Order: sequence, then structure tokens, then C-alpha cells
Amino acid sequence: MAKRLDGKVALVTGGARGIGRSISSALAAEGAVVGVLDLREDLAQVAVDGILAAGGTAMAFGGDVAQRETFDKAVQALKQAHGRFDILVNNAIWVRYGPIAAITPEMLTRMVGTGFNSVVWGIQVGSEAMTEGGSIINIASAAAFVGVAEAMVYGGVKSGVLGLTRSSAVELGPRGIRVNAVCPGSVPTDGMKLNVDPDMMATRIARTPLGRLGEVEDIAQAALFLASSDSSWITGTSILVDGGATHAIR
Ligand SMILES: NC(=O)c1ccc[n+]([C@@H]2O[C@H](COP(=O)([O-])OP(=O)(O)OC[C@H]3O[C@@H](n4cnc5c(N)ncnc54)[C@H](O)[C@@H]3O)[C@@H](O)[C@H]2O)c1
Repeated sequence: MAKRLDGKVALVTGGARGIGRSISSALAAEGAVVGVLDLREDLAQVAVDGILAAGGTAMAFGGDVAQRETFDKAVQALKQAHGRFDILVNNAIWVRYGPIAAITPEMLTRMVGTGFNSVVWGIQVGSEAMTEGGSIINIASAAAFVGVAEAMVYGGVKSGVLGLTRSSAVELGPRGIRVNAVCPGSVPTDGMKLNVDPDMMATRIARTPLGRLGEVEDIAQAALFLASSDSSWITGTSILVDGGATHAIR
């Protein structure tokens, strides 16, 4: 039976763990060849092994997404091996919450480098390699819409990602390349657990109309929709995947 992404070639940044790993698996399950790119190449290889074991096709890449060359190398390698490039998911980030007074130059550089600069380089390199039908999906956050205490830089970075999404969609639309964002609510990944106090989890669930935290698959299914031609007239926008929490007053 034909799958939604048969013949497509994709790259997922931060694809070794958490939401990125789930997106990588979902794209592969729908027939895409998936490049799994992560700072932790060892874990990217574990994710690739999982995809191969499930009958999919994937390649692991190590590298820092804050550097443009990381995208150059991965996209070139995918094109060389599979002849085309169609889908980019900008998902990787390094983030630390904390009070404004505790932000250091190193933290700021790393958060902006992984969360914002990487999206610029990904869109630049990825769109250059794509032809008509290409799709770029930026993983932003509900924190792009609401203020979150002790997450000033994160909120700024993710708001910026929505700006990159809108402007690049306008520029790339005439070439048939779409750019959209997915904005997750709270999903208990390793990254989230580092930053959100366990006591806050119950409060977040209580504020969520659908009554639970997100699962990585909830986010992956939204990314899959935006990657596929099911969303062929959608560009320059974002989908909140948050159980209704962001726009609720509870
Ligand atoms: N988990 C949540 O609740 C939540 C909520 C809103 C938005 N998001 C967004 O979803 C995305 C994924 O979040 P997650 O919770 O799965 O994160 P995570 O921290 O669990 O995983 C991030 C992955 O990115 C990789 N990475 C970090 N720095 C890198 C670099 N410089 N180069 C390459 N790879 C690097 C890490 O090794 C890791 O595998 C992020 O963009 C995050 O902001 C997550």
C-alpha cells in the first residue's frame, strides 16, 4: 500500500531523543528516508537502528546545528545517497530555564545558536536543496504565545522562530516550498524534565482542557501532517498542539 511520504527524503535535527526521535520514526513509518541529526551521534545511531529494525530507511549524522556546515554536510550526504531532499524538521534546541538575573553570555549564545540561528541555517541550506513540494517544519513552542516565568530567552527564541516561519514562507512559496511551525505544549521529555519542576506537572495538567500532558507522538503526528501533501495549501502558519492549554483560562 502506498505511504504518504514514499520517495521523500527528510532531515530531523535533534532527532536522537524526545520529540525529534518520535518525528523521525513517524516520517520513516510513512515511507520517507530519514536523516537523524544530533549533537549526540551515538544516540542518533540508536534512533536510526530503531527505524531500520522497523523496516524503514535512515542515516545518522553528528553535529552542532548552530553551525551552518552541519546542515551542508547532512543535506549533501542525503542528496548524494538518495538523489533528492524534500523535508526538513528544525527541532533541536539546548535550553535552560532560570531567572533573568542568572542568564550568562554562554547560556544566551547556546540557546540562540541552537534554537534560532539553527533554524536560519536549516531554512537556507534546506530550501536551496529542495524542489517544488518541499516542506520545512519548525518546532516552536506554546511559549511563543504566552509568557512563561524564568523562560525569557526561550520565549524570545520561539517567538522569533514564528517570525522566521512567516517570512521564509512568503519568500519560498513561489518555488513551491512550504514553511510551517508546530507549537507543542508540555511534553515530558528529558529536556522538559530538566527545566520544569515536577510539582508544576500537576498544575499544568489541571490547566489543560484535555486533561493530560502531551506525548511525543502527539507532536509527531502534527509534523507528519505538515510534511505530507495533506497540508499542501498550508504555509506560513503554526499549529498549537497543547491539549487546549494555551488559550484556556482555568
Ligand atoms: N518537551 C516539551 O514540553 C516542549 C514544549 C514546547 C516546545 N518543545 C520543543 O520541541 C523540540 C524538542 O524538544 P524535546 O523536549 O524533545 O527536547 P530534548 O532536550 O529532550 O531533545 C533535544 C535534542 O536536541 C539535541 N541537541 C541539543 N543541542 C544540539 C545541537 N547544538 N546540535 C544538534 N542537536 C542538539 C539533543 O542532543 C537532544 O537529542 C524543541 O525545539 C523544544 O523547544 C518542547
